[in-house]
Amino acid sequence: MVPVRVGAIGYGYWGPNLVRNFVENPLSEVVMVADLKKERLAKIQGSYPQVKVTKDYKDLFDQELDAVVIATPPTSHYQLAKECLEHGLHVLVEKPITLNSQHAEKLIEISKKKGLVLMVGHTFEYNAAVHTLKNLIDSEELGQIYYVDAARLNLGLFQRDLNVLWDLAPHDISIMLYILGKDPISVSAHGMPFVNEGIQDVVYVNMVFPDNILAHIHVSWLDPCKVRRVTVVGSKKMVVYNDIESLEKIRIYDKGVEKPPYTDTFGDFQLSYRYGDVVIPNIRLAEPLQKECQHFLDCIINHTNPQSSGQAGLKVVKIIEAAQRSLSQNGRHQEVIQW
Ligand SMILES: NC(=O)c1ccc[n+]([C@@H]2O[C@H](COP(=O)([O-])OP(=O)(O)OC[C@H]3O[C@@H](n4cnc5c(N)ncnc54)[C@H](O)[C@@H]3O)[C@@H](O)[C@H]2O)c1
Repeated sequence: MVPVRVGAIGYGYWGPNLVRNFVENPLSEVVMVADLKKERLAKIQGSYPQVKVTKDYKDLFDQELDAVVIATPPTSHYQLAKECLEHGLHVLVEKPITLNSQHAEKLIEISKKKGLVLMVGHTFEYNAAVHTLKNLIDSEELGQIYYVDAARLNLGLFQRDLNVLWDLAPHDISIMLYILGKDPISVSAHGMPFVNEGIQDVVYVNMVFPDNILAHIHVSWLDPCKVRRVTVVGSKKMVVYNDIESLEKIRIYDKGVEKPPYTDTFGDFQLSYRYGDVVIPNIRLAEPLQKECQHFLDCIINHTNPQSSGQAGLKVVKIIEAAQRSLSQNGRHQEVIQW
């Protein structure tokens, strides 16, 4: 099979991971990588002498490419993705897909009109531990889902033009939409800019999903501990997904609370707590990004719609926009999302 000819724009922190995965995949050939910085281009040449480099991404349009992968700062996603689609190229663009929903809608429209794959880098949708969480919810092993709580905290990396909501929350929102298979009804958010004026470095987001499922996301660049954790609490069992753990990422707690049947005694007011086993399932952990890149190539080859499609990217942007509106009113305002 003729390999898919791939170009990349942006070779900073995340771009090299994408380029490596496409270089290593036999279904693709990385033809050219663009970055504005000379030192980053030198880095590519050191690692992959067969790959052409350029400072001007427009050179990619003369390389008879099939697809482009965009890993530049989010402020440039829309313009770059739009130009690539207009040149007839399939696009994998990093998260968040764009910085407003009209732009995401426009990209979806162009990709549909031209029959091109538009995919967003919601890496966690390709993560085996997240798949395990989803299976536990879908199989009803956890019972009725009460709430989901996510924390993504660290000291740094502070961004100059975007707050922590736009930087980190796309991961947790995409995880929640994926594992619950539902879209939220309402969103509210609180946050503060402690370090840089006007750019919130700590944000708390609350969401309500159908069936009264509560969701909470805490994102922060200003925390002493690195935390990457999602907790799902159901009526039968509870699960903690700790992404910092190298092997035992998922723990299923057979814990719960039950109300005894009605009686007239003092015992009425006592709840019965269940402390059962803790199960750590064996998960075959492959690199999620390898799965994501493979999926992008499969979608191009088989003309299928990706799991993390432009539409999935749009949903995440709509939720962040609603949270941002609430944030600007001190979290008092509950935003109802119009889907
Ligand atoms: N999926 C994930 O887990 C994950 C993790 C980290 C970052 N990201 C995303 O990846 C993207 C990039 O983040 P990063 O941390 O690598 O940023 P970065 O600042 O480290 O790198 C961006 C690179 O893009 C280059 N660039 C910017 N504009 C360009 C242009 N017009 N043409 C060519 N090169 C250009 C810069 O020179 C820089 O080297 C962001 O959207 C971020 O949200 C995703």
